[in-house]
Amino acid sequence: MDYDIAAYGERRPDYDSMDWALRHDEDEASRFLAELAPGGTALELGIGTGRVALPLARRGLKVVGVEGSPSMAAGLERNVGDEDVEVVIGDFADVPVEATFDLVYCISETFFLLPTQDSQIRCVQNTAERLADGGLFVVQAIVPDHDLYCGKQSTGTRQVGEQSAIISARRHDRAEQRVELQSIVLKENGNTFYPMLYRYVWPSELDLMAKLAGLTRVSRSSGWRNEPFTAASGEYVAVYRKN
Ligand SMILES: C[S@@+](CC[C@H](N)C(=O)[O-])C[C@H]1O[C@@H](n2cnc3c(N)ncnc32)[C@H](O)[C@@H]1O
Repeated sequence: MDYDIAAYGERRPDYDSMDWALRHDEDEASRFLAELAPGGTALELGIGTGRVALPLARRGLKVVGVEGSPSMAAGLERNVGDEDVEVVIGDFADVPVEATFDLVYCISETFFLLPTQDSQIRCVQNTAERLADGGLFVVQAIVPDHDLYCGKQSTGTRQVGEQSAIISARRHDRAEQRVELQSIVLKENGNTFYPMLYRYVWPSELDLMAKLAGLTRVSRSSGWRNEPFTAASGEYVAVYRKN
């Protein structure tokens, strides 16, 4: 599978209606983020169509987003009303904005869409440069689960209906921590393919990337309600501070 910064979004023109793929956590996420920088400035890496940025702006923050896909950015422009949200087209590994921010956040495993360790390190370093002193970087991601795979692959069923099914097929490269994923919506009148290439990081690897960029982890919980993170947690929200 080839990678470019627009690929994910351009293959998902129906992103806002992909209920089966979305997290439906906008309310909790925007509340959590707003409490970290009340009335402040925020930057979202991979803003998409504004699923969380728009409710966050309604909570009083000024939000800028970086987005690689013109279709996603157009979706955001359609969704935005009075909210103070603006989008910059570019690669979020570069964090191509001039301003500094009280908060930078990257949610829904979007960080994993950077395809190499180098680009992920670059992203965290550029993020640290765009944070005000004392500013916070928030990442929401899953804990990789090797039990999912049988050998170097997995196939799974996400949904089954009367006239449709959603299945996923993955190929896993353990050494590169990279997964090629194809989610397929099967319907009587045709199938739709949603490809994705991602490179996962372990929670400890993200901590190390942050440390190398001069950021200190202040918390890691298993969700937006500050639930404790344990060895059994499948996902997390990590918060790093620029000292
Ligand atoms: C999983 S979606 C999440 C969108 C939004 N944050 C949300 O939670 O609904 C990932 C987003 O990141 C964008 N994206 C992926 N790689 C990117 C890159 N290298 N630079 C900028 N945007 C990128 C995709 O186009 C997509 O809009």
